[in-house]
Amino acid sequence: MKVLSCERMGYGAIFLIFVLILVLRNMDVLEFQPKVIFAPRVSSGPAMNRSFCTFQPLSPQDALEERLILDSTAWPETPLLPALISLEQTSDPAHSNFTILPGRRGGQWHVGDQLEVMIQTCDFQGRPKKSGGDFLLARLHNRTLEAGVAGQVVDHLNGSYSAVFSLLWEGDAQVEVTLVHPGEAISVLKRLNREDPDRIYFRSLFRSGSLSETTICNVCLRPTEPLCNHTDLRTGDPWFCYKPKNLSCDARINHAMGVHNQQIKAQEVKLFKSGVNLKVYIRTSPASVTVLPQKEGQLKVKSSTVTSGPSGYYYQGLWRALSGITVRQFNESAITECLKGKAVHMYGDSTVRQWFEFLNAALPDLKEFDLHSPKRAGPYILLDYANNILVKSRFHGPPIRIVPVSTSELRYIANELDGLKGGPRTVVVFGIWAHFGTFPMEIYIRRLQSIRRAVVRLLNRAPGTLVVIRTGNPKVLTLSVSISNSDWYSLQCNKVLRAVFRGLNVHLIDAWEMTLAHHLPHNLHPPPPIIKNMVNHLLSYICPQKGG
Ligand SMILES: *[C@@H]1O[C@H](CO)[C@@H](O)[C@H](O)[C@H]1NC(C)=O
Ligand SMILES: *[C@@H]1O[C@H](CO)[C@@H](O)[C@H](O)[C@H]1NC(C)=O
Ligand SMILES: *[C@@H]1O[C@H](CO)[C@@H](O)[C@H](O)[C@H]1NC(C)=O
Ligand SMILES: *[C@@H]1O[C@H](CO)[C@@H](O)[C@H](O)[C@H]1NC(C)=O
Ligand SMILES: *[C@@H]1O[C@H](CO)[C@@H](O)[C@H](O)[C@H]1NC(C)=O
Ligand SMILES: *[C@@H]1O[C@H](CO)[C@@H](O)[C@H](O)[C@H]1NC(C)=O
Ligand SMILES: *[C@@H]1O[C@H](CO)[C@@H](O)[C@H](O)[C@H]1NC(C)=O
Repeated sequence: MKVLSCERMGYGAIFLIFVLILVLRNMDVLEFQPKVIFAPRVSSGPAMNRSFCTFQPLSPQDALEERLILDSTAWPETPLLPALISLEQTSDPAHSNFTILPGRRGGQWHVGDQLEVMIQTCDFQGRPKKSGGDFLLARLHNRTLEAGVAGQVVDHLNGSYSAVFSLLWEGDAQVEVTLVHPGEAISVLKRLNREDPDRIYFRSLFRSGSLSETTICNVCLRPTEPLCNHTDLRTGDPWFCYKPKNLSCDARINHAMGVHNQQIKAQEVKLFKSGVNLKVYIRTSPASVTVLPQKEGQLKVKSSTVTSGPSGYYYQGLWRALSGITVRQFNESAITECLKGKAVHMYGDSTVRQWFEFLNAALPDLKEFDLHSPKRAGPYILLDYANNILVKSRFHGPPIRIVPVSTSELRYIANELDGLKGGPRTVVVFGIWAHFGTFPMEIYIRRLQSIRRAVVRLLNRAPGTLVVIRTGNPKVLTLSVSISNSDWYSLQCNKVLRAVFRGLNVHLIDAWEMTLAHHLPHNLHPPPPIIKNMVNHLLSYICPQKGG
């Protein structure tokens, strides 16, 4: 095998332009990206740690689970650069390279085989890296066939990584490897969530009579002033606001996103440069293989029930799940037929709301009942009286970056689920991930544990209820998006989500791979062709193929 070289390829200028275009394309949809204020980083005093985060108490069993989850999501440590060392020793995608390994048939591949590539990361001076911890993504695709599948990346902790792909279609397949963040950037992200979990502020208006006051709120709020404790008594999910000077804590009337106080050192900004080391392709040539027809008697590729293996792939633009379900294509009348007599309850962030909006647009007979809710917030209701269809959508409880909403609408998913009767005509859909990227992972784990308790209660009292969970997906990354909700954080959240709901009678829609495997650029709000595939996936759970 040839030794990997670290020679730089001349793609830099092309990337820069490409990434800029992506950013512009997606500008309008980053609706909840808060305003950024660059603040000088104050030195870390004793209070500059997460000791001001309140974690709800856990049963011994949940505490053990939390520890196991934290262990299983551990990421290799990359020491943070001393302040004055430059970027030179961090991973440079332009110098890094990968090689397609010949495999067990000596450079011939058939449908059903696996393709493995060996990635060597190199630094800006062209020297091979000796440690792991970089965040890489890999995809195998063919634009003409509209085919794509996510690869599984393995970190060998010595500067090299493997990406393994299942070969699922016949014809050409091109390997794409992306450096999302160098390991040093991951260390910055970890530090930020540990030390500055309050770097995105929320606000609440308190009002009584003619008196009103706005204060800052958060999950983790530094106790520098008296606090109002708005922790949910049923779920235990923590939430705090600074107490208004002249009003009681009960006078809180709304909630809204605040600003983003960007706590990052000038030196660290270099670790998040679009076109340089932030979601940039690693190039090589050749980067494609030709996949021959399946060999006689070869086992059909199935998604592994263990951790590795893709959850599905695209072929001719359509998502084919490998988890045992056949994703059907639903036209307007088929959707109506499927949803007839059913109530669909959606909960979560704006990425779940996209599914609601898709149904709203797809079915003229499913009419929106005007609740006069704030735009791009909700809650929303769709009704089709003739077919007895109800579709509801509601945003999840705080932390949520949102336009001002009434405190009466601040509801936790777990409490909402407790209010459902459930049954075979009830579909529950939720997705909660995009607003948790700034906090210690325990906040997310405990939120999911409280939702799980409610799901277990729901499935216990109404076993026919269908529960579908949407995972997080990759998005366009800029510096400020990275430090408020990097794909790395979403990846970690997805691991937690899978772990918490493993073994329950619930279904996952792998929005991560559905976005990663598609040819359209990553987007916090995936574009319509991907949403259509996701909704077809959801409808296939509600109305599975007969006899299948
Ligand atoms: C990448 O590796 C391949 C295979 O070893 C080699 O042919 C190619 O020249 C390398 N490219 C660069 C830019 O180093
Ligand atoms: C966090 O701060 C508290 C005091 O506020 C201090 O007792 C504790 O040792 C600190 N922990 C870390 C990990 O810095
Ligand atoms: C890194 O580790 C992998 C897996 O053990 C091995 O195949 C590879 O040769 C190692 N690379 C170097 C440069 O040591
Ligand atoms: C996709 O595969 C087909 C069939 O092998 C091939 O003709 C075509 O060039 C490939 N397209 C791309 C973009 O790789
Ligand atoms: C906030 O209230 C909850 C629920 O009553 C309580 O368990 C928790 O200890 C309180 N936290 C603080 C910091 O007062
Ligand atoms: C609270 O009330 C006092 C006395 O009426 C007034 O001086 C002060 O400005 C008020 N503070 C706020 C924040 O409204
Ligand atoms: C919708 O799909 C069904 C089969 O799923 C088909 O019978 C019907 O003709 C289609 N309707 C339209 C308008 O395309």
